[in-house]
Amino acid sequence: MASNELDWAKLPFGYIPTDVNVRATFRDGAWGPIEETSSEYINLHMAATALHYGQEIFEGLKAFRGADGKVRIFRLEDNARRIIDSAKGLLMEPVPVELFTEMVKRVVKANERFIPPYGSGASLYIRPLEIGITPQVGVKAATEYMFVVFVSPVGPYFKEGFKPTNICIMREYDRVAPKGTGRWKVGGNYAASIAAGDKAHSMGYSAVLYLDPKEKKYLDECGPANFFAIKNGTYITPASESILPSITNRSLMQIARDMGMKVEERHITVEELDEVSEAAACGTAAVASPVGEVHDLDTGKRYVILNGNEPGPIVTELYNRLRAIQLGEAPDTHSWNTIIE
Ligand code: PLP
Ligand code: COI
Repeated sequence: MASNELDWAKLPFGYIPTDVNVRATFRDGAWGPIEETSSEYINLHMAATALHYGQEIFEGLKAFRGADGKVRIFRLEDNARRIIDSAKGLLMEPVPVELFTEMVKRVVKANERFIPPYGSGASLYIRPLEIGITPQVGVKAATEYMFVVFVSPVGPYFKEGFKPTNICIMREYDRVAPKGTGRWKVGGNYAASIAAGDKAHSMGYSAVLYLDPKEKKYLDECGPANFFAIKNGTYITPASESILPSITNRSLMQIARDMGMKVEERHITVEELDEVSEAAACGTAAVASPVGEVHDLDTGKRYVILNGNEPGPIVTELYNRLRAIQLGEAPDTHSWNTIIE
């Protein structure tokens, strides 16, 4: 598709073909050269470990066209480090930070015409993924891996944009196990969430608010995003071994501290939702999506967080400050952006 045919302001969160993607393969104990290709397909052996035993990990980050026309990638090295943690979790070959950052920069540059213009509200979503490619039937780690990075211009993850949506609690599903893979960005976690997500969507909810899988007592995370809330002016967010350490959440916590707010990473019970004034789902895709109501489908209890259809003031301020840093409108005081020359 020609980029001049795209209606930037109306982009969904989805896949749009771009000019190229980049790949590197780990074989015989070393990463090979970076290949740039226009093919959207991967040629995989049918016995590859990724296909049978789920040796698949990924990342998600974004590039933005700034107010000054420059392109900024948000927290590139943090994503590089997180995919290393995911690789270690599944005994996969870690992609060196330098290779990750070089490939991401290269694919962004090569697809520059797909980076949405400043002011459109859209961004370039970057999706790095790593798969085990060794043909094998025994359940063990592959010895060969492929690392691929592709991009797609995207709009808001929740079609409502920056508007409150309702989410639900359903105890019949777990996304991950207590000591399982929840803290890593592993494809299998998402496979395990599809049925619950589909059920929630069919009932009009934007996401499932998962509880800790051990006791089902504490809030965990919100579909493909972390969860945070504002209680008496304090930013509270779950401490849990079974959630993904969200880079957006960490950034928002820092912004909250910069605003003089207290930040608490701790257990949050379901009932505590009665005491919060604002809440949001946060992540690269979700940014900070305000939550209107949380419906506990098992007890029938409805936690009304916002009255009306407007986001609350603190979530709005956090969202605006994060966006301003990403778009180069505010000083990048924590050195979160990588500027693409
Ligand atoms: N939790 C899950 C399960 C996710 O898929 C994501 C998305 O990446 C997040 C949280 C948010 O993480 P980040 O802010 O690093 O994108
Ligand atoms: C992201 O926010 O980058 C994610 O990975 C969410 C995605 C699974 C839609």
